[in-house]
Amino acid sequence: MTTLGTPLSPHATKVMLLGSGELGKEVLIALHRLGVETIAVDRYEHAPGQQVAHHARTIVMSDPQQLKALIEAERPHLVVPEIEAIATPMLEELEAAGTVRVIPTARAARLTMDREGIRVLAAETLGLPTSPYKFCDSLAELQSAIVGSAAGDSGQRGIGYPCIVKPVMSSSGKGQSKIDGPDDIQKAWEYAMAGGRVSHGRVIVEGFIDFDYEITQLTVRAIGASDQMETHFCDPIGHVQVGGDYVESWQPHPMQPAALAESRRIAKAVTDNLGGQGLFGVELFVKGDQVWFSEVSPRPHDTGLVTLCTQHQSEFELHARAILGLPVDTSLRNPGASAVIYGGVDAQGIMFDGVDEALRVPGSDLRLFGKPESFAKRRMGVALARATDVDTARGNAKLAASKVKPRKA
Ligand SMILES: Nc1ncnc2c1ncn2[C@@H]1O[C@H](COP(=O)(O)OP(=O)(O)OP(=O)(O)O)[C@@H](O)[C@H]1O
Ligand SMILES: [Mg+2]
Repeated sequence: MTTLGTPLSPHATKVMLLGSGELGKEVLIALHRLGVETIAVDRYEHAPGQQVAHHARTIVMSDPQQLKALIEAERPHLVVPEIEAIATPMLEELEAAGTVRVIPTARAARLTMDREGIRVLAAETLGLPTSPYKFCDSLAELQSAIVGSAAGDSGQRGIGYPCIVKPVMSSSGKGQSKIDGPDDIQKAWEYAMAGGRVSHGRVIVEGFIDFDYEITQLTVRAIGASDQMETHFCDPIGHVQVGGDYVESWQPHPMQPAALAESRRIAKAVTDNLGGQGLFGVELFVKGDQVWFSEVSPRPHDTGLVTLCTQHQSEFELHARAILGLPVDTSLRNPGASAVIYGGVDAQGIMFDGVDEALRVPGSDLRLFGKPESFAKRRMGVALARATDVDTARGNAKLAASKVKPRKA
């Protein structure tokens, strides 16, 4: 039996989000609907999720001592990471000491905080298909990883061209570039060094997969009626990435039964190993019946914003329910699409013209995240559209997004 408390009372059910961006904001709203008391943590003030939580805290989440002090002071029942740049070894320590439960588990948060732990787990421990890859700590290592070492019996085959270089610690395509030939290697290395989140110079170089399409397989681990762990799958989400950042997504993405079955086999293997309760976004590349694992978020996924207009329970509601030990329903309600609204300008406190025009597009809806500061390439909102088919939904989501015109105040 799951029992929930009353917020702001001595018996509140308390949940702390580590990271309070647009995805965290929706999780917080879902938690509020169930009467959960929330603490939204971010590195800057007035982050989107902090604006809707009971309590807002601003700390450096990658600092283990600050993280420990905050968790010990607030004593939440659950700690829910929303970003990757967190002092995850400290979360493991606090979880092991029984101070707090981390969603889905502290180990999952650590393994997915950079590209290395999860890639090694998926490819080497679980034997799942991935792109060929190598980790490199210098330009020279990158060069030999791509072209291979000197021929002969001891020579190593290189990853070859084309390939993709990414900082081990980065997201949304930051510092990521494609290498088509020898002339691109140095540029890619320098770009990765400038774009990584923390100042250690490790990159992954991956063979380029010439996929037909890519999907996010949202996967939920939730407790079933007789207390056993169950895995539930959402319909596949198709998406378009530009420079490694998502610009458009839709659901359902049509798939052949064999590719869908293989996608779910991979998703189940990864999420079974990571364990715990909650929703995961498993990123997969598909070509014919062949499927490659790319990466996984142990939390709602940005491309899954589309579920706000397609599913009976959005990925955020599914996450909120699953982490609280409640039943979930992953069924699709109708096809739909999402299209990202970028800031377009570098400014504080921007204005959004044309919101009425956007909402006049049939079946459309909008989320403006309320980020205090806009950058040209910062995601400031998303347009959603439901329709009877995905093509119409995609057209309408893009149309609605194009009607919203961010500008300086
Ligand atoms: N090996 C590859 N072959 C082909 N395309 C790739 C490869 N790796 C990445 N991509 C493309 O780049 C996109 C972003 O890559 P990836 O998901 O690894 O980076 P990311 O920075 O974590 O992005 P995000 O945080 O938005 O998920 C992928 O969704 C895919 O479109
Ligand atoms: Mg990705």
